[in-house]
Amino acid sequence: MTAITYTDVTKRFKGANMNAVDHVSFSVEAGEMVMLVGTSGSGKTTLMKMMNRLYTADSGTVSLFGEDIAKKDPVALRLSIGYVIQQIGLFPHMTVYDNIATVPKLLKWNKEKIAARVEELLKLVNLDPKEFYRRYPAQLSGGQQQRIGLARALAADPAVMLLDEPFGAIDAINRRNLQDELLRIHQKDQKTYLFVTHDITEAVKLGSRLLIMHEGKVQQYDTPEEILKHPANEFVASLMEGVT
Ligand SMILES: Nc1ncnc2c1ncn2[C@@H]1O[C@H](COP(=O)(O)OP(=O)(O)OP(=O)(O)O)[C@@H](O)[C@H]1O
Ligand SMILES: [Mg+2]
Repeated sequence: MTAITYTDVTKRFKGANMNAVDHVSFSVEAGEMVMLVGTSGSGKTTLMKMMNRLYTADSGTVSLFGEDIAKKDPVALRLSIGYVIQQIGLFPHMTVYDNIATVPKLLKWNKEKIAARVEELLKLVNLDPKEFYRRYPAQLSGGQQQRIGLARALAADPAVMLLDEPFGAIDAINRRNLQDELLRIHQKDQKTYLFVTHDITEAVKLGSRLLIMHEGKVQQYDTPEEILKHPANEFVASLMEGVT
């Protein structure tokens, strides 16, 4: 089953002299973890934000399980997609518990169901519920905040997860731990992930396929093994030199 399809999607911001995303087409099978990599400004975040309609494509279509997202209610669409980003992250005035419970509350789950889900998610991301329930984001390390961000995004069991440099600001050791945890979670939940990273080693480790972007265009879309063996062009070859 195909989860995500971009068909000839183009986006240019007002006043810009080139397309941020330029005639991009690709599809993602359900259960894949596709890694978006490429130079800064190559359009990765823009591409991702057209999935949950934070941005609208100028032309082309984005579909989720065969349905054009332009025809869906944007609020319902966003509630059905998990979204984790590096900077803004958690709601600072809310406890860990309330952060994770955000979407289930919006979906009007009952209290018992929410409590059980929050406990389950904290265990899933390797944090002791009793210790962390009542803390505020400012009382957590960066790595712990990202774990809570991941738990919050997973809360209502979305079929698709979007992660935009979720581990960008985390030290190498914690980053590797989080990668291992994400792999374990993915093996269990088999959700469809789109994941942006600047770390090419992370991309090769986690990705079922890599989507390599430069200047708004897809340079290559294939498995890590194929891309390492047969880079499509000079740009891809030099990017892959960074793999350790
Ligand atoms: N809201 C916006 N308004 C105007 N231009 C924008 C906006 N968002 C992004 N752009 C421009 O679109 C292009 C693509 O940006 P985008 O954020 O998608 O890149 P990126 O690949 O995510 O980069 P990075 O790796 O640095 O996060 C850039 O030239 C950027 O300046
Ligand atoms: Mg970005």
